[in-house]
Amino acid sequence: MQKLLHQCLIFLLLSCFSFSSLASFSRHPNRQFGQAKNYEGSSDLVDLRYHMGPVLASSINLYIIWYGHWNPTHQCTIRDFLNSLSSSSSYPSVGDWWRTVRLYTDQTGSNITGNIVLAGEFQDSWYSHGAYLTRLAIQSIIKTAVSSSHDHRSLPLNPHNGLYLVLTSSDVQVQDFCRAVCGFHYFTFPTIVGVTVPYAWVGYSGSQCPGMCAYPFAWPDYSKMPPPGSGGVGGGSAMRAPNGDAGVDGMISVIAHELAEVSSNPLVNAWYAGEDPTAPTEIADLCVGVYGTGGGGGFVGKVYRGKWGIGYNVNGVRGRKFLIQWVWNPVKKRCFGPNALD
Ligand SMILES: *[C@@H]1O[C@H](CO)[C@@H](O)[C@H](O)[C@H]1NC(C)=O
Repeated sequence: MQKLLHQCLIFLLLSCFSFSSLASFSRHPNRQFGQAKNYEGSSDLVDLRYHMGPVLASSINLYIIWYGHWNPTHQCTIRDFLNSLSSSSSYPSVGDWWRTVRLYTDQTGSNITGNIVLAGEFQDSWYSHGAYLTRLAIQSIIKTAVSSSHDHRSLPLNPHNGLYLVLTSSDVQVQDFCRAVCGFHYFTFPTIVGVTVPYAWVGYSGSQCPGMCAYPFAWPDYSKMPPPGSGGVGGGSAMRAPNGDAGVDGMISVIAHELAEVSSNPLVNAWYAGEDPTAPTEIADLCVGVYGTGGGGGFVGKVYRGKWGIGYNVNGVRGRKFLIQWVWNPVKKRCFGPNALD
């Protein structure tokens, strides 16, 4: 922990001078993004309903499983984002963004918690289940991380208020990753992990499909143009990533997306729209690609611009800035974030 913190501090000192160039473009056209549903301004069509299941109302102990070979600088950015969820930073902050998620309640009237603690980390740097993973294999990775049989320090198995976040490195391929999904959430099966506990997986897309999963810091190569409203200039660059890496900054918005959804629909029987629980439309699915007022239909929306053309919409701990997508606000009945102009 000490060593990692030290690396974070070094990164902050260097970060002013080390914005890297954008990741290379994906060779695979992104059909998914072009079809992304957007519900901004069409709230009558959204039938988001509560299906009587639990939400994550108790303080969350979040455990990260770093799968594969991870760059410590990237780990540091992600850790700072997660630590920003329940910290106070200048408005609009990551915590202010989470307030929209907190508006969801369960049948007892309890809101989703505002207390998310980074309770442990596990480095699976030996690729315990290989570099090609099925969706179900993510559960086996969690099992490995909570089993004490390894030399490496294992994580506690916490079915009471644990939430496991599996993050796969650039060289790991996951079923449906870069084709249908950038991340997903679900819950573990007792036959694999021993208990039922919610988890989420997000992959690092910087080399595999930045145009799909690191939008708007990269864009699909079929489009030939920066995303509209991203501020890219004349055939030039997309919006710059606020923490210097399109893959990791894009991943942070996907992590935000999955955390919002796993908290409001942890057992896939609480908050979702549509009639099909096997393909639920959840609170962040409704707002994919919307980061500010006027966003939607391929427009990022009104976000802040910083030095060197970086784009962001929220502040985090230690001076960090992040660009994270909005989520559905059940009171206003529209996509919303703390940087909204109205
Ligand atoms: C809890 O949710 C209700 C209903 O959305 C909302 O009115 C209230 O402000 C929420 N409380 C907190 C602390 O977010």
